[in-house]
Amino acid sequence: MTKLSGKTAVVTGAAQGIGKAIALRLAKEGANVAVVDRNEEKIIQTANEIKELDKDCKGYVLDLKHTEAIAPLYETIAKDFGRIDIAVHAAGVALTKDFMEITGSDWDFVMDVNAKALFFCVQQAAKQMMATGGGRIINFASIAGKQPTKPDLSVYGASKAAVLSITKTAAANFAASKISINAICPGVVHTAMWDQIDSDRARIYNQPIGKAIENITGLIPLGRLAELDEISGLVAYLSSPEAEYITGQSINICGGMIMS
Ligand SMILES: NC(=O)c1ccc[n+]([C@@H]2O[C@H](COP(=O)([O-])OP(=O)(O)OC[C@H]3O[C@@H](n4cnc5c(N)ncnc54)[C@H](O)[C@@H]3O)[C@@H](O)[C@H]2O)c1
Repeated sequence: MTKLSGKTAVVTGAAQGIGKAIALRLAKEGANVAVVDRNEEKIIQTANEIKELDKDCKGYVLDLKHTEAIAPLYETIAKDFGRIDIAVHAAGVALTKDFMEITGSDWDFVMDVNAKALFFCVQQAAKQMMATGGGRIINFASIAGKQPTKPDLSVYGASKAAVLSITKTAAANFAASKISINAICPGVVHTAMWDQIDSDRARIYNQPIGKAIENITGLIPLGRLAELDEISGLVAYLSSPEAEYITGQSINICGGMIMS
């Protein structure tokens, strides 16, 4: 019997990177997993890898910026699996562009996914959990939501600050329903998102590929990027019985890049 046996988890953004690592980790801890992403080919791949672990898993293809489809999505998942105990919201996008060049559509591109879609995912996860006596919600923010970013990640930082606010407000509102809600703030993890930032900065600042990651690594007191296993391990802990008393928190996992 593993820690999360009998639980059902939903993970958004599970086609690759952090979300995929979390989906696999929660399955290894015993959970059945519903995986959600806009990337059909890759989400099927994630679902197949989880099924190989002998866990019930189903992939759902949705571009979460269509927020009207989020309530039907969570209803379908609750019907398919019987309940939702854990919801991890990792779907997100970044945009590397100078503060002075940001347009209204740039703002919407980032905010629609990172803040607006996440809000409705939290709302609908909480609705399903209230019906079954409680649960855990874990939202992906970033240290970029807590401190100034380079000026080329301004909207991303604003969207992650929104995640922190949504997390605290939801945690206060749904505590009485036994739903614990926390945010994770990673520093830097080497995923497709950071490859994109690195190649954008290579183009914008006329520097070699790899330089942006090298530069940011130099700012990390522990001297290295985070491993996917370290992020998914924190999610597994926050999903576990031992973490029942933790709610409304934002937990930095950033090698000491920020300390508050
Ligand atoms: N990688 C890092 O260093 C880092 C640091 C801090 C926070 N984060 C956050 O962690 C989360 C995961 O990041 P990652 O590095 O794995 O990124 P990633 O780009 O590798 O993966 C993001 C996933 O989200 C999905 N997604 C994006 N927009 C979507 C939409 N509209 N609808 C459905 N799915 C969508 C993508 O298809 C992809 O599978 C994000 O919220 C990110 O902001 C990452």
